[in-house]
Amino acid sequence: MSRALRVGVLTGGGDAPGLNAVIRAVTKSLILQHNAEVLGFEEGFMGMIEKRVRPLSYRDVSGILTRGGTILGTNNKANPFGYYKRGGADVSAQVKRYYEDLGLDAVIVIGGDGTMAIAHGLQQLGLNFVGVPKTIDNDLVGTSRTFGFDTAVAIVTDAVDRLHSTAQAHNRVMIVETMGRYAGWIALYAGVAGGADVILIPEFEYDIKEIARVCTERESGGQNFTIVVVAEGARPVGGEMAVQEIIKDSPDPIRLGGICKILETQLELHVRSEVRSVILGHVQRGGTPTPYDRNLATVFGSYAASMVADGAFGRMVALQEGHLTSIPLEEVAGKVRTISADAPVLAAALAVGTSFGVPDFKHRLVGTQASAKMS
Ligand code: F6P
Repeated sequence: MSRALRVGVLTGGGDAPGLNAVIRAVTKSLILQHNAEVLGFEEGFMGMIEKRVRPLSYRDVSGILTRGGTILGTNNKANPFGYYKRGGADVSAQVKRYYEDLGLDAVIVIGGDGTMAIAHGLQQLGLNFVGVPKTIDNDLVGTSRTFGFDTAVAIVTDAVDRLHSTAQAHNRVMIVETMGRYAGWIALYAGVAGGADVILIPEFEYDIKEIARVCTERESGGQNFTIVVVAEGARPVGGEMAVQEIIKDSPDPIRLGGICKILETQLELHVRSEVRSVILGHVQRGGTPTPYDRNLATVFGSYAASMVADGAFGRMVALQEGHLTSIPLEEVAGKVRTISADAPVLAAALAVGTSFGVPDFKHRLVGTQASAKMS
């Protein structure tokens, strides 16, 4: 009789709501359907480098479906190909030995593009990996959805709803800044869901005069308030993205943030109303996942477990046109999926009068609403 499968699991990069739901789905499916042993690495790849691992039983993952964060911890600096605690040394050979000593058949990595890039590198050395796409940013290539995104959109939408009433009470322009790195998914979806008047995303450089035009038109039309949702990666025509911080030792060192303050100062010169701004920040990553994200996390996790049982290594679970599938890790590693000009939600938002801070925006759109697919 062949021995039971032994499978590792880790959560890498920034956290996102639904990580625990995936850990639960992976562990329970592996134990119940494939009679496997499951080991959880602590703090992402740090656990594989520093030999920090613990067994995960069915009981260990019971009751974590609704919890935010990750019971395993995570880390966005631990890269075996350039380990910051050892001056950027390549410790991948040590990680390989540890994997072999543990007798692992595969490791399921739950993470974003950086995590998939590391998994791809280790796969090249002969270790087996299966990826599960995580990020609130929804910017992984090859999958129309990552888990965590729906929750972030719900949190931002709630904030936009709340800002409406205070903006209206004070006749103010309110600017709310979302996360999302170099893609505008969170700002777009929460902006549309919250009925924002202006949505600014990295995919389209904005013109401050166009934003001012919307605010002034609303002022003179008797609607004395304006809601602007801006993605942290948005930038003016010919301008730069706002960098909040450079994190030394991080494989992805740039942290964006602060564009809403810049906008506030610029807009004040053009409009009569007072202008206020708020950065939502890590609030967008906290707390319990939405039902959609719990479902997606469960589906992704159990699919990843079946991929391990089938020996489908070096691949990441993906959702494409509503179907579950998988794609090679190398297709995801280090890439960003931005919003394309044929996204139906762009055309729909424009149709209901939303501005993207771009004069004559309709000429920037591609195709028709009817021909494009919702992502
Ligand atoms: O990728 C997720 C994300 O929350 C981005 O939207 C944001 O730019 C970044 O991580 C923030 O990173 P950190 O948690 O290191 O501040």
